[in-house]
Amino acid sequence: PGNGSASSHGKTILIGEHAVVYGAPALVLPVLDARVVATVSPVAADAEQPGHSLQSTVHTGPLDLAPAAVMPTVTAVTATLRHFGVTDRHFHVRVDSEVPTARGMGSSAAVAAAVTAAVADALGETLDVETHHELIQECERVAHGRPSGLDARGVVASAPVWFEGGHIEPVTLGARFTFVVADTGVPGHTRQAVSAVRARHDQDPAGVDAVVDRIGALARRARGTLENGDAQGLGATMDAAHDLLSTLDVSSDDLDRLVDAARAADALGAKLTGGGRGGCVLALATDDDHADRIAAALRGAGAAATWTTTIGARAC
Ligand code: PMV
Repeated sequence: PGNGSASSHGKTILIGEHAVVYGAPALVLPVLDARVVATVSPVAADAEQPGHSLQSTVHTGPLDLAPAAVMPTVTAVTATLRHFGVTDRHFHVRVDSEVPTARGMGSSAAVAAAVTAAVADALGETLDVETHHELIQECERVAHGRPSGLDARGVVASAPVWFEGGHIEPVTLGARFTFVVADTGVPGHTRQAVSAVRARHDQDPAGVDAVVDRIGALARRARGTLENGDAQGLGATMDAAHDLLSTLDVSSDDLDRLVDAARAADALGAKLTGGGRGGCVLALATDDDHADRIAAALRGAGAAATWTTTIGARAC
């Protein structure tokens, strides 16, 4: 086999986190500027280190001695080889990722997407969309237990994805939308936040169900605004979603400070994104220059990193 390479990117949730756990729809956005590139090269059978090996910021060395954190990457390599019925090949895998871990940006799914596709490429093969998805999900089960599939879809998408009841639909865009993602620098606590919402639901099912319904309605409205090119309307749904998530107690002082900073920089809307209690915020800008101003304001307010992601028709 020859060398192989493939790339993927981060994702962020536009509307629907937490409510999606209770069956509400969610909209997922690709973060095209946060890239993961995987390159693989064959290891000769008589090499000094004959097995698979990895070079990444998380682990560099043989994959059979890898720490738990890279087990999903081991799965990405072995599951792809198994899929193509290949038993006698080994690869050196290099992963260059701009997607931070534990920030709700889908880093594990993005690495899985890039590594599986790069191994296929080295074998001279390609993965169709559903096979690729299943391989990413196999890695995600190693990483997270019971992944919804939302991350796996977002990290390979080039447009927003509507996610409902385990099914996806692409969303058509009526205009170009520019978003800024900002990292609080604090790891998100998705699992803890999901349990806290579950405890609240046990105590007050009607109250939480009402919030879930309202978030679901916002997701539907947000989809309409994407299709109609209504950035103002989209921003309003983002602001409303942040308020509803705050009533579920999944925000944090760091997230609220960044949301406030984005709004002070005239973002059309801003919200926490992902599991919350850390992780990232998402803000909507009017154009690229405005996105630069919002990103600067967010860094001034303490963001550890920012990304700009533009989706939809390019302006002429
Ligand atoms: O933090 P993330 O991006 O992995 O998103 C979590 C989304 C939740 O709705 C909070 C949980 C879930 O499993 O859908």
